[in-house]
Amino acid sequence: MRNVEFHNGNTMPQIGLGVFRVEDGEECKNAVKHAIVSGYRSIDTAMIYKNEKSVGEGIKEGMKEAGIDRSDLFITSKLWFDDFGRGNVEKAYDTSLENLDLDYLDLYLVHWPGTDEELMIQTWQEMEHLYNNERVENIGVSNFTIQHLERLLQRTDVKPVINQVEYHPYLVQNDLKLFLESRKIIMESWSPLMNAKVLNDETINEIASETGKSPAQVVIRWNIENGLVTIPKSVTPERIEENIDVFDFSLSDAQVNRINLLNRNERNGSDPATFNGKK
Ligand SMILES: NC(=O)c1ccc[n+]([C@@H]2O[C@H](COP(=O)([O-])OP(=O)(O)OC[C@H]3O[C@@H](n4cnc5c(N)ncnc54)[C@H](OP(=O)(O)O)[C@@H]3O)[C@@H](O)[C@H]2O)c1
Repeated sequence: MRNVEFHNGNTMPQIGLGVFRVEDGEECKNAVKHAIVSGYRSIDTAMIYKNEKSVGEGIKEGMKEAGIDRSDLFITSKLWFDDFGRGNVEKAYDTSLENLDLDYLDLYLVHWPGTDEELMIQTWQEMEHLYNNERVENIGVSNFTIQHLERLLQRTDVKPVINQVEYHPYLVQNDLKLFLESRKIIMESWSPLMNAKVLNDETINEIASETGKSPAQVVIRWNIENGLVTIPKSVTPERIEENIDVFDFSLSDAQVNRINLLNRNERNGSDPATFNGKK
């Protein structure tokens, strides 16, 4: 597994397992366990996914079967809108730790910026407090646009290590990518497969034939070539294995560019400029 390095010197595996919409209970526990046994070292959950408890169980069973320690893993969870603001963040962090049955997270993210700048800044200051008190290894953001980041960087002290955003061949967000590169903030791709929608794309399938890999592997490798962290979700054992089996081939610059050019600025999820947690 390849790692990326954050501006603070810490590292993160470039591929992790995402568990959004994975049912709490056996399904989630088994997916996490299978991922760890298959070589995954990073798991991405969130309080709002309501499956932190089974993620924690999967981690325990996976660690035991794989013969690894907690320090070999990189666990991410996220802070939801209900817990924004002064006096709330540390409590929410403790609840996530309790659910996961862990002592610390490797990465805690503000899940969305929301539409209230003051609240977003206050929330980040609370995140800084957690980080400065060494309760969490790294803090980052999710779904932040350039405008949100500019305000955050101007008004607060600790720079996020990562910005987790929707990113797939139909939404490449090149301006945001360049902005993050210039600030040494890692870009992380959520819905890298656009919920399997890009797997039928003609160009992706052509490149899959050219490389002898599956369409999902081509898309995940394209994330790697572009320097992103990526967290494909699957509950299917064979797909979980397939999605990290991307280190025995590479894409040429021309193949990477062909995929970059598929961009349609098409979002599968909510728009970060307006989303405030309500449908
Ligand atoms: N920060 C945020 O706001 C945010 C928002 C959305 C998602 N995320 C994170 O990003 C993760 C991934 O995004 P996502 O869950 O939306 O979607 P995704 O990873 O783009 O796609 C998942 C879908 O693709 C299928 N799939 C996975 N591997 C496959 C393969 N090799 N071949 C064919 N189909 C395959 C899965 O099916 P099966 O499971 O049935 O195998 C599932 O239906 C989430 O789980 C979550 O951790 C974050």
